[in-house]
Amino acid sequence: MDVMQAIRERRSVRHYKPDPVKQEDLQAVLEAARCAPSWANTQCWRFVVVRDPATKARLAGALNPGNPATAAITEAPVVIAACAETGKAGFKRGEVCTDKGDWFMFDVGIAMQNLVLAAWSLGLGTVHVGLVDAKKAAEILELPPGIVFVEMTPLGYPNEQPRIVPRKELSEIVFYDKYGRR
Ligand SMILES: Cc1cc2nc3c(=O)[nH]c(=O)nc-3n(C[C@H](O)[C@H](O)[C@H](O)COP(=O)(O)O)c2cc1C
Repeated sequence: MDVMQAIRERRSVRHYKPDPVKQEDLQAVLEAARCAPSWANTQCWRFVVVRDPATKARLAGALNPGNPATAAITEAPVVIAACAETGKAGFKRGEVCTDKGDWFMFDVGIAMQNLVLAAWSLGLGTVHVGLVDAKKAAEILELPPGIVFVEMTPLGYPNEQPRIVPRKELSEIVFYDKYGRR
């Protein structure tokens, strides 16, 4: 599957079959994340691959009440938690160098989208899950100081036909030369 097809056809998957993910496919999606660009190549991302059912159940309990991805965390055979080493992205010699502060959310987001698209190209579903009590997730995963939880995704074979969620038209979101100029 080419990149454009994966970008166009990918959907968030919230129901999964229990079938295991092949080790080579897991490796391939992690490799896709590893290849992502990052601030000064600082690669602040860290990934925790969770297969233990008890840990997945505890992670599902860290999602905010009513999060539609809750069942997916226990249904999918694998959950990948995306974490970040803080104080690297957006820093130069230990000092923040833009008005955005730490860029870890940005770099981890890029890496995770690489992972998500690679998964889709292999027939695997994912959904970015950010509506989570990150402190609780960090405790469950025993993250050390300086490492924060960013998001997680289930990874597995879809057990639903995900609905198509519409996007804004380009005419609404793209401007030329100056903001507001169409
Ligand atoms: C940063 C981020 C956080 C998200 N968090 C959640 C979440 O906690 N629970 C959930 O069900 N979906 C979550 N989503 C999925 C979005 O709801 C979904 O991508 C959006 O509705 C578009 O649908 P699509 O992915 O099927 O195109 C998140 C997506 C992103 C990018």
